[in-house]
Amino acid sequence: MNSSLSLWLTRVLVLTQLIHGALSWGKEGHYTVCKIAESYFEEETVAAVKKLLPESAQGDLASVCSWPDEIKHHWQWRWTSPLHYVDTPDYRCNYQYCRDCHDTHKHQDRCVTGAIFNYTMQLMSGSENSRRIVHYNLTEALMFLSHYIGDVHQPLHVGFLGDEGGNTITVRWYRRKTNLHHVWDNMIIESALKTYYNKSLPLMIQALQANLTHGWSNDVPSWESCQLNQTACPNSYASESISLACKYAYRNATPGTTLGDEYFLSRLPIVEKRLAQGGIRLAATLNRIFSSQPKLAEA
Ligand SMILES: *[C@@H]1O[C@H](CO)[C@@H](O)[C@H](O)[C@H]1NC(C)=O
Ligand SMILES: *[C@@H]1O[C@H](CO)[C@@H](O)[C@H](O)[C@H]1NC(C)=O
Ligand SMILES: *[C@@H]1O[C@H](CO)[C@@H](O)[C@H](O)[C@H]1NC(C)=O
Ligand SMILES: *[C@@H]1O[C@H](CO)[C@@H](O)[C@H](O)[C@H]1NC(C)=O
Ligand SMILES: *[C@@H]1O[C@H](CO)[C@@H](O)[C@H](O)[C@H]1NC(C)=O
Ligand SMILES: [Zn+2]
Repeated sequence: MNSSLSLWLTRVLVLTQLIHGALSWGKEGHYTVCKIAESYFEEETVAAVKKLLPESAQGDLASVCSWPDEIKHHWQWRWTSPLHYVDTPDYRCNYQYCRDCHDTHKHQDRCVTGAIFNYTMQLMSGSENSRRIVHYNLTEALMFLSHYIGDVHQPLHVGFLGDEGGNTITVRWYRRKTNLHHVWDNMIIESALKTYYNKSLPLMIQALQANLTHGWSNDVPSWESCQLNQTACPNSYASESISLACKYAYRNATPGTTLGDEYFLSRLPIVEKRLAQGGIRLAATLNRIFSSQPKLAEA
């Protein structure tokens, strides 16, 4: 390729990444969730996912897990914007599907948990009976489901309506002016990469995976399980998120606050655990959808 053209392409890519990086559980967060999930796929899930992935993914689910953020501002996809989050009434630290899962026009089911149920159902209908004609685009369903399971684990994607999940709470992250939502989507992860992982995302993912097989190994079965034999259980993830938002995200982060070491060091473990849980639960959900043989209980 002509070198000035490729330089220009690089600039455009970097620019779009900068813009998109500012939008949702950042690119790094979604990549991490999906990368962790991949290592917990059962054999049939690996095959089914590979079949559904778009060519651009080159066989790697993690590479397309930010796709729903990249498209959500294009006019033909604008209807998907409310599907990235759910808001609770101000200062309510609990979540209720019927009360909270709607968009600003009060259309029921138009929120992140509704979207997770929707795309799970679509993928189930495609895998249960492959002879039935499926009207859904299951490639899109897979990318949406993988992304939204990540989003629902970001505590401020289940935040208060009045501050738009922290988006209107202006704070400083060390010396940089930003907002609280962005701190949880991106800044905590970026600071962790700089401080602990030599700016290397693969190193951070490795550390989380090591923790999953050691420190967190006893918790993994309970993270995977879904009450009442459901295929997907986003409601419990949303309840956890709003509870964490109240306990950690909003606390000591009123408008105008400067957040530094104290906030960073106490909140980073929460972010790391949510990324790991998101990965485990995405894998568990896709395994329930695609792997027909139920795994025998370990005990
Ligand atoms: C479910 O998915 C379809 C296909 O993307 C979409 O048209 C519909 O609006 C979605 N519904 C909800 C509640 O997310
Ligand atoms: C399914 O969705 C993907 C991503 O939007 C698109 O590239 C592909 O053309 C769609 N497939 C069909 C059959 O419409
Ligand atoms: C950190 O990353 C740089 C390249 O980005 C590499 O040259 C260096 O060896 C790494 N340091 C450690 C301690 O891994
Ligand atoms: C869950 O599934 C198991 C095995 O299929 C069944 O024995 C059990 O009764 C189910 N539990 C509920 C609450 O549906
Ligand atoms: C690993 O797990 C321990 C115990 O839960 C936790 O304190 C630590 O922050 C975790 N480390 C990483 C990198 O997630
Ligand atoms: Zn999102």
